[in-house]
Amino acid sequence: SAALRVGVAGLGTVGASVIRLLDERRTALEALSGRGIQVTAVSARDRSRDRGIDLSNVRWHDDPVDVATDENVDLVVELIGGSNGAAKDVVEAALKRGKPVVTANKALLAEHGLDLAALAEENGAALAFEAAVAGGIPVIKALREALPASRLTRISGILNGTCNFILSRMEEEGLSFADALVEAQRLGYAEADPTFDVGGFDTAHKLSILTSLAFGTQIDANSIYVEGIASIAPLDLAMADELGYRIKLLGVATRTDAGIEQRVHPTMVPKSSAIAQVMGVTNAVAIDGSAIGELTLVGPGAGGGATATAVISDIVDVARGAVRLPFGLPVALLEKAEKAPIRTH
Ligand code: HSE
Repeated sequence: SAALRVGVAGLGTVGASVIRLLDERRTALEALSGRGIQVTAVSARDRSRDRGIDLSNVRWHDDPVDVATDENVDLVVELIGGSNGAAKDVVEAALKRGKPVVTANKALLAEHGLDLAALAEENGAALAFEAAVAGGIPVIKALREALPASRLTRISGILNGTCNFILSRMEEEGLSFADALVEAQRLGYAEADPTFDVGGFDTAHKLSILTSLAFGTQIDANSIYVEGIASIAPLDLAMADELGYRIKLLGVATRTDAGIEQRVHPTMVPKSSAIAQVMGVTNAVAIDGSAIGELTLVGPGAGGGATATAVISDIVDVARGAVRLPFGLPVALLEKAEKAPIRTH
């Protein structure tokens, strides 16, 4: 069948990696998808920047919404970021036209996930977001597989690569918080505004998406108690070490008698525990459920190659017609399924 024509809005670390990998992996992707996958349009803020990718046969748009309306684009990949403005405009414009969307935007989904899912469903368009949570760990797909047989009781983990990288560098190399953050930014792990990382908000966004999928609740990041790592000093890490602990920024959602409880904060974990071994930009997600027991996934949580891997897996799913409902559940079911999670602050 005809090639799937892809438009990419946003050419930062992840966008450039997606374009490079679609080219490098062209033959394999065609075999896996049963059709060609071709980037036909892009947009980004700065046209002149050298990203080390070939855009000579690609149409450039200054306005990202034009990527969604471009008649030579069948699928829109949104990698702009941010919960409002351009990212939201592009995603809405695409879905309204019935075009499938692949996004890595956790902030957008945390704020507007249900509305966007409804829009996707109304227009029969796929909305796929594997890349929005835990970078290269296929946690959205893992949840989809774990859910049918189990009533889930808990989902938890290290969901921000930048914070885990900073804490690891501080502990292992004695780096200051500020120097470790600069290094994370240089490696392309941090958000455009790193407050989202170190303040714990990025973890909260991701947790709210996982919670909604795992428990069928509304997506609600605003009800989460959030404490980041910005005030953690080398002395705190040294004291924890003395007592046999490491400090990790965890996101935890638990089913309680009163409802679903979500929280994000630095946590002391015993050095001998599995979670304490997770160092650097690595993320970890643990899913607890009635039939499955505890399923733990560990892998790269940020960075161009890892996050682009998740984006490309979604593109291939769309190309094969394998994604239908945006959240794997009809929106109507999500809407009435459960009330909001418990407020924890
Ligand atoms: N800034 C995010 C992180 C990127 O460090 O985890 C991946 O979502």
